[in-house]
Amino acid sequence: MGARCSDCIRSRPKQVLFADVKRQLKERTMIRRVLITGGAGFIGSHLARELVRSGYTVRVLDNFSAQVHGKSSRIPDQFENIEVIEGDVRTRAHLKHALRDVDAVYHLAASVGVGQSMYEVHSYVENNTLGTANLLQLLIENPVERLVVASSMSLYGEGLYKSADGRVHFETRRPLERLKKKEWEPLGAEGESLSALPTPESKRPDLASIYALSKYDQEMMCLLMGRTYRIPTVALRFFNVYGTGQSLSNPYTGVMAIFASRLLNGKTPSIFEDGKQMRDFVHVSDVVQACRLALEGPQAVDHAFNIGSGEQITIQEVALRMAEAMGKPHLVPEITGQYRVGDIRHCFADISLARTLLGYRPRVSMESGMRELIEWLAGQRAVDRTQEAREELAVKGLAV
Ligand SMILES: NC(=O)c1ccc[n+]([C@@H]2O[C@H](COP(=O)([O-])OP(=O)(O)OC[C@H]3O[C@@H](n4cnc5c(N)ncnc54)[C@H](O)[C@@H]3O)[C@@H](O)[C@H]2O)c1
Repeated sequence: MGARCSDCIRSRPKQVLFADVKRQLKERTMIRRVLITGGAGFIGSHLARELVRSGYTVRVLDNFSAQVHGKSSRIPDQFENIEVIEGDVRTRAHLKHALRDVDAVYHLAASVGVGQSMYEVHSYVENNTLGTANLLQLLIENPVERLVVASSMSLYGEGLYKSADGRVHFETRRPLERLKKKEWEPLGAEGESLSALPTPESKRPDLASIYALSKYDQEMMCLLMGRTYRIPTVALRFFNVYGTGQSLSNPYTGVMAIFASRLLNGKTPSIFEDGKQMRDFVHVSDVVQACRLALEGPQAVDHAFNIGSGEQITIQEVALRMAEAMGKPHLVPEITGQYRVGDIRHCFADISLARTLLGYRPRVSMESGMRELIEWLAGQRAVDRTQEAREELAVKGLAV
């Protein structure tokens, strides 16, 4: 009896393993050729290299937007065996050409500045929302085995909060009058103090910028069309992604890159509000891990997942640690006490759903991720355009 039992205990995992391997092999043979829109960008280029290393055939469609890539539209480093098409998701013919013979699409192409989206409304909606519409229109006739769309934490607006009595607050906003008085923390409906909690996917979106709205559009449109046309679709809500290859010339996005370009130019990072706002910084290789799992995992389909590190840190702490690690501790971050319209106070990820359904496990600590970023920064030249970007916001009345 005991022997039979131990036999069956030994043999069962083998059967499960065999079934798993067979399923994985089937999936791998189904998805071999992958298109990444926006694949020459920060996240896309890391993803493209990783997919090639794993044996996929990768094509990239990117318009090499000058705001991200500077004036020279340079193919990213180590882009061997990746087909690059210089083209635009807003142009049907470019997309049609890029979609030839692909089994799966990662849709990453987007304009990515939150503040900028509030005065370049047409361009953000055209690029993000209509660009996605263009893609989906073509996928009706050329369906793929998997569509993965890059969504964003920005769609939550403020994160989740609780009050001292244990009540959870799903919808919290900061009125302009309080920001003018430098009262940064959001309050409950009855004026009670709140503390921030990890934000799960079940928190209702509360869109605070055109960028956030357009990311929500992208996510919802892809999931909806995926369901309708049986295109297995997954949305990944990225939190604050950082890592090597981040655009250092784009002053509208990527707070770590913005701090880095200030520090590289011998200037102090400057921080809005009091610097105590909390975010979740996730290393790009963990984001790539999530993208891989979204392509391969059968349970991922028709879900939107938070992709963060699961850890929170204040913006001030990030700036201090960067200055320290770059050997410039004298460049103490400047706390400006200014604020940007639409900025949220705290939002960091609850990643339980991605852990459970995708098998996602963030691996890179802030310490090692920042060390790697700083080694890379040593060989970079950064054009610091943050002042310019800030003045633009101020002129439009969006930063005070
Ligand atoms: N980096 C983050 O922290 C973060 C957080 C949340 C969501 N996201 C999302 O992830 C995606 C990738 O972000 P990223 O940080 O790599 O940005 P990125 O700006 O580095 O990359 C975007 C790429 O898309 C290209 N692109 C833009 N418009 C295009 C168009 N019309 N046609 C073709 N290519 C176009 C750009 O040239 C660029 O190479 C975006 O959809 C972004 O909204 C990023």
